Amino acid sequence: MKICCFGANSAIAKHIVYEYADSSPEVILVGRDQQKLDVEAQHLKARYSCKTQVFSCDFTNTEKTIEVCKTLKDIDVFIIAHGYLGSQDEAQNNHSELQKIIDVNYTSYAHLLEEVGRIVDMQQFGKTIVIGSVAGDRGRQSNYIYGSSKGAIELYVQGIQHRFAHNPKIHFLLAKPGFVDTPMTKDFPKGPLWAKPKAVAKLMVQGLNKNKRVVYTPKFWFLIMTLIKWCPFFVFKKTKL
Ligand SMILES: NC(=O)c1ccc[n+]([C@@H]2O[C@H](COP(=O)([O-])OP(=O)(O)OC[C@H]3O[C@@H](n4cnc5c(N)ncnc54)[C@H](OP(=O)(O)O)[C@@H]3O)[C@@H](O)[C@H]2O)c1
Repeated sequence: MKICCFGANSAIAKHIVYEYADSSPEVILVGRDQQKLDVEAQHLKARYSCKTQVFSCDFTNTEKTIEVCKTLKDIDVFIIAHGYLGSQDEAQNNHSELQKIIDVNYTSYAHLLEEVGRIVDMQQFGKTIVIGSVAGDRGRQSNYIYGSSKGAIELYVQGIQHRFAHNPKIHFLLAKPGFVDTPMTKDFPKGPLWAKPKAVAKLMVQGLNKNKRVVYTPKFWFLIMTLIKWCPFFVFKKTKL
């Protein structure tokens, strides 16, 4: 088995890779920080006897990202996991922060999804986990810039699922985590709605194995987001969400 992970230093992505690691797959780690990628590659080799390859690449550099993708072939599982939460408050006042949130969380995903689409089309097989977010389900005052990028990914993934619906060997899963305790959320106070990256990674792989198109991780977020999505605006506008 051959796995290619974009955003391989992400806590959730690492645990997705570990879900497959017992079968000692070949793993291609793609991310921004070469040193951290090398450490992870060493870990996968030493603990799980994986064969590894590392590419360092900032995914907002489209040319470099596409160059890396051109080297990929015979990939069984892709993971697209990088992300940038940024600051909603700052982005409302600073267009470069706004641009960065959209570039990392949407534009780079669109380019990667097209490259992954090209590769699976050529191979005629390949499964992909794309990490979205519950934040993409409804625009909310506290994070609509990040949230709208995640919402846009959902439409993109729907389109690519439609494009490959005729081929049962090609599948795209959109995973929508709720609150997960990772470096991205290290400054947030934690509570009962929070999950660990290992638990959400497991649910994502289970969802992919069952050929689901969307999974909420943990599952209770489906209920929470259904209530939030369908809450009438005259009520919603009174909330601070
Ligand atoms: N944690 C949550 O509560 C939560 C909830 C919903 C969705 N998500 C989504 O889950 C995914 C994984 O995040 P995580 O929670 O595992 O956070 P994380 O551990 O902080 O991982 C985020 C990763 O994204 C990488 N990254 C950011 N900008 C990049 C760029 N321009 N080019 C390449 N890599 C870049 C970071 O690279 P460096 O290591 O170099 O910094 C980091 O490894 C993200 O898509 C996130 O939006 C997370």
